Amino acid sequence: MQDENKIIIALDMASEEEVMALLRLLDPASCRVKVGKELFTRCGPDLVRRIGGMGFDIFLDLKFHDIPHTVNKAVAAAAELGVWMLTLHAAGGADMLRAARAAIADAEHRPLLVAVTLLTSLGEDDLVVQGIQRSPLEQVQRLASLAQECDMDGVVCSAAEAADLRKLLRKDFLLVTPGIRPQGDPANDQKRIVTPAAAVQAGSDYLVIGRPITRARAPAERLLSIQREISGNG
Ligand code: C5P
Repeated sequence: MQDENKIIIALDMASEEEVMALLRLLDPASCRVKVGKELFTRCGPDLVRRIGGMGFDIFLDLKFHDIPHTVNKAVAAAAELGVWMLTLHAAGGADMLRAARAAIADAEHRPLLVAVTLLTSLGEDDLVVQGIQRSPLEQVQRLASLAQECDMDGVVCSAAEAADLRKLLRKDFLLVTPGIRPQGDPANDQKRIVTPAAAVQAGSDYLVIGRPITRARAPAERLLSIQREISGNG
């Protein structure tokens, strides 16, 4: 079934105070939040517990990529933290992905496991350097198929790839897309941006949105206007 709560706000902030100032303005019933490497490395699991305690679903974006045993233990630890979704690199291989799935097979709380295919910062030249003679899109398709075979719940991808992947993958396989900008917003450092409505039309299930909301003068109102755009009442 389609989840109406599609927006994941990227908490790309350097301190707990900044995070709390934003979260106090938001309703956990109308958005989810993403904790990435910077915030986690600064503030750690205590902040994750605190945000979870406020009722927010947390996407822990630490992109695990290691030997299967290590990833198995890291995923188990994230499940104990109560996160809603977490990321790992599909390039870690089938055994690593299956070890991640096994980690939560009997867990009380099972986070959604979402694989990163190819980082959008990498292009054709970077693949050649790694000895991969394929286009970035072919590589994304290959790794997304691997993620599906290894029982992941979805992949992170660019919204520009979403329509392609939607055709390739099973219907309920989740597509999580960053690089979203409402019409008229600055691109910042994003190169290929897609509007929220276009991302959903392309088949995206969850939209990761940072600065358009976190830097807005009125973040809650901005969130609401993006939600209206997505549901076609914009
Ligand atoms: O502020 P902005 O909307 O650009 O934030 C997007 C978020 O999504 C950031 O946390 C960024 O690290 C993340 N991300 C991305 N592109 C990817 C993967 C993750 O922008 N390919």
